[in-house]
Amino acid sequence: MIIVDSVAALRKRTATWRREEQSIALVPTMGYFHEGHLCLMKRAAVLADRVVVSLFVNPTQFGQGEDLDVYPRDFEGDCSKARELGVDMLFCPARDKMYNPAHRTEIKVAGLTERLCGADRPVHFTGVATVVVKLFNIVRPDYACFGEKDFQQLRVIRQLVDDLNFDISIEAVPIVREPDGLAMSSRNAYLKDNEREAALVLYKSLNMIREQVLRGGERVSRILLEQARQLIESRSECEVDYLEIVDELNLVAQPSVGEACRAVGAIRVNGRIRLIDNMALYT
Ligand code: PAJ
Repeated sequence: MIIVDSVAALRKRTATWRREEQSIALVPTMGYFHEGHLCLMKRAAVLADRVVVSLFVNPTQFGQGEDLDVYPRDFEGDCSKARELGVDMLFCPARDKMYNPAHRTEIKVAGLTERLCGADRPVHFTGVATVVVKLFNIVRPDYACFGEKDFQQLRVIRQLVDDLNFDISIEAVPIVREPDGLAMSSRNAYLKDNEREAALVLYKSLNMIREQVLRGGERVSRILLEQARQLIESRSECEVDYLEIVDELNLVAQPSVGEACRAVGAIRVNGRIRLIDNMALYT
């Protein structure tokens, strides 16, 4: 596996691959790899001849008071996991190599980014969209893989790919969960044992909604969401950030469960740790 930290070094290698007509799949990440990230890399390896993984803790998507400075890192561990999977290149630029001090341009995907994970984090999706567009232009991949864990992020990326005519096929990878259902996340590393157990209510509440809907039971969102909220609030450690039933295309709250709807939620555990999850309300 080649490890590069500069755009020039990356381009030199990808230019060779392109000349040899080898296809390239990109997996953008912020590191601290878990099975979710590894699934994206495995998918990328099936899709393309070459796999590039970017590892960059992108400062512009963190708001003030968020966990940028303490975001978990394990560079050596990440390298060995990626190497073991046969990743061809790990791109890990320093902060000033991605954003020079004169950087001014931002990508804003209006309409999809003001709600849910964007509601109290106005800079978040602009930061994500901007860094992903930069990575697309740096790597020029044929494919890029994103997880459904960050469903709103995936929707934002698909929108910008359509809007800006990127010739990149976006691959969605289903959520990878722990055996008990907790969605894998680098931020799970912040959870102490009792918090880990409390955090599981997010999965349980979304699953409760899904099971009721699939069973042919309740379909009124207000009632389903109220039950789910009560389950979350039964754990004193957990506070609901948002909990909604939305359509998958526009991410707009739906009064009742129709076609292609998803339950989406975010909680805060002990006020410190923000976790998200989502579940399709169809088979
Ligand atoms: P990060 O949180 O490191 O996630 C990298 C990719 O892994 C994202 O596409 C995310 O959806 C996916 N992922 C995370 N947990 C997953 C799980 N349990 N199952 C399946 N996929 C999972 O998302 C980001 O980084 C950043 O916002 C980024 C896109 C790299 C831009 O900075």
